[in-house]
Amino acid sequence: MVAMDGPSGTGKSTVSRKLATKLGAGYLDTGAMYRVVTLAVLRAGVDPADAPAVLDVVEKAALGIGTRPDEATVTLDGEDVGAEIRGGAVTTAVSPVSAVPAVRELLVARQREIIDEVLGRVGGIVVEGRDIGTVVSPGAPLKVFLTASAEVRAARRSAQDSAAGRESTVDGARESVERRDRLDSTRAASPLRAAEDAVEVDTSQLNIDQVIVALAELALHRGLLEGCPAEAAR
Ligand code: DC
Repeated sequence: MVAMDGPSGTGKSTVSRKLATKLGAGYLDTGAMYRVVTLAVLRAGVDPADAPAVLDVVEKAALGIGTRPDEATVTLDGEDVGAEIRGGAVTTAVSPVSAVPAVRELLVARQREIIDEVLGRVGGIVVEGRDIGTVVSPGAPLKVFLTASAEVRAARRSAQDSAAGRESTVDGARESVERRDRLDSTRAASPLRAAEDAVEVDTSQLNIDQVIVALAELALHRGLLEGCPAEAAR
């Protein structure tokens, strides 16, 4: 298993999916899980800052999350919400929702079940998030913490938004990235931080393929390819 943590805009999602494909492993996007339950909260008309009401919605939300790196579908009550969870409304509300300790407990338990199931069935999984190496799977054999400068992360986020047809400016993206970093790293429950034994990779000057090569090498050295096709890491 590979735990992939770090703030947004570091290339975490692309890197995690590509690495999983290369290793012949499954993939879990835990940020998407926090986003889906946030969408459920918004659809229920509940204030994201009202923790008890938020928990009530999250307990009842029927979220579905795919674990194939090439097709990680995300559903709420059976409806594909992959695009909607990346929109501005969810992005703004996701930090307060993910700061509710009982919401985290519920989702962390679900994440551990999914990880166990995929490890048993596929033999490997790359899991991306903020607290994978510190809370969800502290025993993960490879923990990676991706970073990048705020400028680079804002530019990447803005390009991503524009490519998806969402309105975006680099200044706006920078504000949003910095606001979310601040909230995610200062919250009381499982704040964003690197595990002590995580390998830190600064992606500011690297393209995705360079990051993948470095990480596949690390995975190979840590014996993470058992059960996966032998040529997968080459
Ligand atoms: O990776 P992302 O931008 O899709 O994550 C959305 C939000 O979910 C992010 O602002 C913080 C939260 N999150 C979290 O608290 N813990 C995780 N393991 C993953 C995401």
